Amino acid sequence: MAKNITIDGPGGSGKSTIAKALSKDLGITYLDTGAMYRATAYYALSRGVDPADVTAVLAILGDISMDVKYVGGGQKVYICGGDVTPYIREYKISMAASTISKIPEVRLKMVELQRIIAAQTDCVIDGRDIGSYVLPEAKYKFYMTASAEIRAGRRYLELKEKGADVSFDEVLEDIKKRDLQDSTRAFAPLVVPEGAVVIDTSNMSIEEVKAKIKEYLC
Ligand code: DC
Repeated sequence: MAKNITIDGPGGSGKSTIAKALSKDLGITYLDTGAMYRATAYYALSRGVDPADVTAVLAILGDISMDVKYVGGGQKVYICGGDVTPYIREYKISMAASTISKIPEVRLKMVELQRIIAAQTDCVIDGRDIGSYVLPEAKYKFYMTASAEIRAGRRYLELKEKGADVSFDEVLEDIKKRDLQDSTRAFAPLVVPEGAVVIDTSNMSIEEVKAKIKEYLC
């Protein structure tokens, strides 16, 4: 059985930075599951479908054939053979991904692919429901969090570096809206998974978080 390390938590908690760095240190794969929901949201928008319109999303869901590949050390997400990775980090895609991820049929499609990859590959896998729903039997489970202000600050810097035209207050409001939407959805919401080690990264460096996680790995 493949060895999997799950890291869940809200947006901006630092989980993807840590998951990426940790997987590199351990020489195993990093599976970013948020990218899969982002890719689905991007595809819906590119077909003119509102991610909140469940009927319209379900009508195009069958057209989505998704692949996750590793190219030059990075994860790429393909839909129907086309690489959508360059488009899924845009500001508007975050909320669209959160909205589309409420639909159980969307989640089940992503979860199926996630479980296949996790069964075949040792990986650090991050998301919202990985330790609680996707891989509840994983040996190592972590939940990362930080205050909404600190998480918004991190996201704001990232977006500014990419030249996005947003204010800190907008990012903070979005983070809070996404927290609420992700943690109150009916199916596989964001929760602290049973048995997960909770790490508050508010005042921790990347190295400190990595070292903390490594204390638990054997
Ligand atoms: O981690 P991220 O910001 O890239 O995730 C974008 C959205 O995707 C997030 O707000 C909710 C959804 N998501 C999810 O529901 N389950 C996951 N395992 C990963 C992401």
